[in-house]
Amino acid sequence: MSTARLEYNGQSWDFPVVEGTENELGVDISELRAKSGLITLDEGYGNTGSCKSAITYIDGDKGILRYRGYPIEQIAEQSSFVESAWLVIYGELPNEKQRERFSALLTKHAMIHESMRNHFQGFPNNAPPMAILSAMINAIGCFSPEVLGSDTEANFEENAARLLSQVRSIAAATYKMSMGQPMMYPRPDFKYCENFLHMMFSVPNGRITPDPDAARALNQFLTLHADHEQNCSTSTVRMVASSGANMYASVSAGVSALWGPLHGGANVAVVNMLEEIRSSGMDPHVYMEKIKDKNSKLKLMGFGHRVYRNFDPRSRILQKAAEVILSKLKIQDPLLEIARRLEEVALRDSYFVDRKLYPNVDFYSGIILRAIGIPLDMFTVMFAIGRMPGWIANYKEIHDAERLKINRPRQIYTGAAIRDFVPRDARVQ
Ligand code: SDX
Repeated sequence: MSTARLEYNGQSWDFPVVEGTENELGVDISELRAKSGLITLDEGYGNTGSCKSAITYIDGDKGILRYRGYPIEQIAEQSSFVESAWLVIYGELPNEKQRERFSALLTKHAMIHESMRNHFQGFPNNAPPMAILSAMINAIGCFSPEVLGSDTEANFEENAARLLSQVRSIAAATYKMSMGQPMMYPRPDFKYCENFLHMMFSVPNGRITPDPDAARALNQFLTLHADHEQNCSTSTVRMVASSGANMYASVSAGVSALWGPLHGGANVAVVNMLEEIRSSGMDPHVYMEKIKDKNSKLKLMGFGHRVYRNFDPRSRILQKAAEVILSKLKIQDPLLEIARRLEEVALRDSYFVDRKLYPNVDFYSGIILRAIGIPLDMFTVMFAIGRMPGWIANYKEIHDAERLKINRPRQIYTGAAIRDFVPRDARVQ
C-alpha cells in the first residue's frame, strides 16, 4: 500500500493511499485528526471522497459514465429504466426470474394508499410539485409502516419496488391535482413508462393509449438519470441514511436537494433561458456576452459540471433523443435550434473553452419532456423519478455496510471568541 506524507510544524505523518477500480487514487485521512490534531477544509467537497462506492463510475476528463461497469451509451441503447434500476440497485443485470419478480412488485405497488389521495386535496393546486413529492414520499411511510422498519434482505426489494413505483403515481397525481382533473389509477397491463403517461394524460371519460415513441423517449430519459455518483442529492440521501433513517425519509431529503437550480432544477432553468432568448428574439451571441459579463450574475444553464471537464455523455445521447422524438411526433420546437446555436457559440468561445464548460444532462433533456407533454413545473420531478434507483442504491450501500457509521463532518470555527453573557438592560439598543 503506498502512502502520502503530510509535514507540518516540524512533524510528519504518513497516510495510506487507496486505489479504485479505475486506478483513481485517494489519501485515506481517517486517522488525520487522531495523529496530527489537524482536519482538512474543502468547501464544496470538490477534492473530498465521502465514501467508497461500487455503483457508478465517472471520468470527468474523458466524459465517461458507467453504471456498475456498463458504459452509459450501451445502457441507453440496449436497456430499459426498470432493468437499469435493478442493475444500479443490485449490481448485476437482472435474469428473467428477477425481472419478472421485480416487475410484478412494481405492478403490485403502483397504487398509492387510497387515503393518501385525500392529501393531494390539502395542497393548493399551484403548490410546487417538488414540495409535494418530498412530502408524499414520507407520507407513504405513514400508510405503509412496514417501510419504516430497518430493511431486511426480504423486505428491501419490496420497499424499493414500492418507492420506485409510487414515485411515478405521486408525480402523476400531483399533475392531475394541479389540472383539476381526477387522479387516474394505474393499469396492470401497462409497463412503467406507459403507465406513467396513462396516469398523467388519461381522463375517466377519455383513456389515452400512450404513444410508444413517447414512452421510449421517457424510458431513455429516466435511464440516463438513474445514477450519477456522489452528486448533491445522492450525497444528501447518504447523509440522512447514515443516521439510520429509513429509505423513504432518506430519499425524501434527496428530493429537496435536487430541487435547487444548480442541480436538478437546472432543467427548468434551461427551458426558461431558451424561451427568454426565443421570445426576445435575441441573437445567441448577444446572450452569451451577457453570460460572460460577471455583473449579469447569469449562468448558461445546462452548461458546466463539477466533475465533467469534457462533454457530459448523457447530453450527447439526450440531444439525439430530442431530435428523434421531435421528428417522430412531427413537432417543430424552436428551442432545440436555439440550444444547438448556443452550444455552437460556446464551444468556440474561450470563456467556456478555458473553463471547460460543456453541455450537461440538463441542456437538452427539457426538449424531450416538452415533446411528450410534460409541463415545465414537473421537469425536476421527472429528474427525481429517474434518480430514484441511484438514491435507493446508495441508501442500500450505507445499510449494507459492516457497521452503520453516522456522517458527521468537522468545521473550522470562525465565530466570536469566548465572551460573557450581557444582561438585557446592559445591551446596546
Ligand atoms: C446536475 O453533480 C452531478 O453529478 C450533478 C448532475 C447529476 O446527474 O446528478 O450531473 C446533475 O446538477 C448538472 C448541473 C446542472 N446545473 C446547471 O446546469 C447550472 C449551471 N451550471 C453551473 O451552475 C455550474 O457549472 C455547476 C454548479 C454545475 C458546477 O459549478 P462548479 O463546479 O462549482 O464551478 P464554479 O461555479 O466554481 O465555476 C467555475 C467557473 C466560474 O468562473 P470564474 O469564477 O472562474 O471566472 O466557471 C464559471 C463560473 O462562473 N461557470 C459558468 C457556468 N458554470 C461555471 N459560467 C457560465 N455558465 C455556467 N453554466
